[in-house]
Amino acid sequence: MSLLDLKQEIQELKEKANALILAHTYQNDEIQDIADFVGDSLELSRLAATTPHQVLVFCGVHFMAESAALLSPEKTVLLPAPDAGCPMADMADAETVREWKQKHPNATVVAYVNTSAAVKAESDICCTSSNALKVIRSLEAEEIIFLPDQNLGGYIAAQVPEKKFHLWPGFCRTHHRVTVEEVEKAKAAHPEAKVLIHPECRPEVSARADFVGSTKQIIEQVGKIPASTFIIGTEMGVIHGLKKRYPDKRFYLLSPGLICPNMKKTTLKEVAAALRRMEPVITVDEPIRSRARLALERMLALS
Ligand code: 13P
Ligand code: SF4
Repeated sequence: MSLLDLKQEIQELKEKANALILAHTYQNDEIQDIADFVGDSLELSRLAATTPHQVLVFCGVHFMAESAALLSPEKTVLLPAPDAGCPMADMADAETVREWKQKHPNATVVAYVNTSAAVKAESDICCTSSNALKVIRSLEAEEIIFLPDQNLGGYIAAQVPEKKFHLWPGFCRTHHRVTVEEVEKAKAAHPEAKVLIHPECRPEVSARADFVGSTKQIIEQVGKIPASTFIIGTEMGVIHGLKKRYPDKRFYLLSPGLICPNMKKTTLKEVAAALRRMEPVITVDEPIRSRARLALERMLALS
């Protein structure tokens, strides 16, 4: 089947099923182009919870589709690439969270959305990289268990010195591998460029940025900074959207290693197959579902 036929089929199947295609900003270019909405973790969670569409095709990784299923159990949530996981989410498990809670009984548990439903169920509130600071500042607790990303946690902790943080030792393999040498090399190659970096990168890497923020904040920042060249320190998928939105500006990827293999598992073929077969469907069973949903809803109520 030609690419055009495949796109046509997706369009027809989508209309027939009254489905909405959601794509994270790290998805392959062709997936971003056929999606009804492209956004960061927070925007996608919000939309999944509020859209009237009964079928959601989630082009992203497992925890994102799972969050959509938690927020809208009455909807059919399809994950076209069912083996698209998040290695960072796999670094936290519910049993160890329970141990940490026993060790730090006064701490509030804040879970980055990049976690399984079982871990969310053990947590008090969720956050994304877009709203982490707001979520932490909203909490009365003076002690925080932040999981699983040590880099995002450390970045937030530095801005809230009045609270004590217990940081989980997790990290994103894609962002954590960026080195200071790569930043220096990119800056030397493009001295006029502004450097925008995701807080999942190591602190010494983020320290060299002109701006640190989530994917959505990076995209918005390009529109605000009066510069024409940018070095982008997050997953390469973001550059596709940036080029479309700002055709007169130039973008360079901070490191060739900024590719998330799991985000690239979704292809047009899988999207068509998922719509044709109405599977794989992502669901979450009780009692995990209600507890995990509460942590997500507390976050959404704040942002
Ligand atoms: P966001 O900026 O969308 O929170 O992305 C972080 C990420 O790595 C998603 O997997
Ligand atoms: Fe997980 Fe990192 Fe990939 Fe995001 S970019 S899905 S945090 S591995």
